[in-house]
Amino acid sequence: MGSDENHLNMPFQLVFATNNRHKLEEVAAKINGEIQLLTFEDIGCKEDIEETGLTFKENAAIKSHYIYDKYQLNCFGDDSGLEVVALSGEPGVYSARYAGEHGNHDANINKVLQKLKLVENRKARFITVISLIWNGEEYFFEGTVEGTICHERSGASGFGYDPIFQPDGYSITFAEMSLEEKNKISHRAKAMEKLIGFLNSVE
Ligand code: IMP
Repeated sequence: MGSDENHLNMPFQLVFATNNRHKLEEVAAKINGEIQLLTFEDIGCKEDIEETGLTFKENAAIKSHYIYDKYQLNCFGDDSGLEVVALSGEPGVYSARYAGEHGNHDANINKVLQKLKLVENRKARFITVISLIWNGEEYFFEGTVEGTICHERSGASGFGYDPIFQPDGYSITFAEMSLEEKNKISHRAKAMEKLIGFLNSVE
């Protein structure tokens, strides 16, 4: 990256503090080889970092600080989730465990659909907050995508609430899009674009 020729042959390294395979795929596609993305496996981290924060920002920072404190590597952590307007922002930071068990996407979707059964206002948004620790300094980047919650599931791609989220301006859900399509407009993609822009400006 930048003007230094070395960067063209040897991109710099950045740890992505996640165990989520889907997120890793989305972020790796977004970065497109510009940065060497290291995973937990690459750095020998077997920890499942607990998200104890009350905001996306706090949870993102918990992950990046954990990695930086333990390994002193440039890294970033993200936290994301779904906010449904008629549910006062629920499931929010509890998106992964809305129905109780962590990561039970099917049960989480059922809970949202059940709560919205008689509700007309289906507006919702996905949010991602990234906490980057770069040379010991912390930076935050945020991305959002507005949309509506469908009455039933459509599509089999992606993960989480993708089968019931239809982004504004589209007639299909995130789960009906290819990774490339979702990666043009998603909350995570927008936050990543800001992070990549930042790295381009400092390197
Ligand atoms: P995390 O804490 O950032 O891993 O995300 C929390 C939860 O938010 C996930 O388990 C999903 O339920 C939901 N979520 C986050 N991003 C997405 C997305 O891109 N599509 C669908 N669900 C998502």
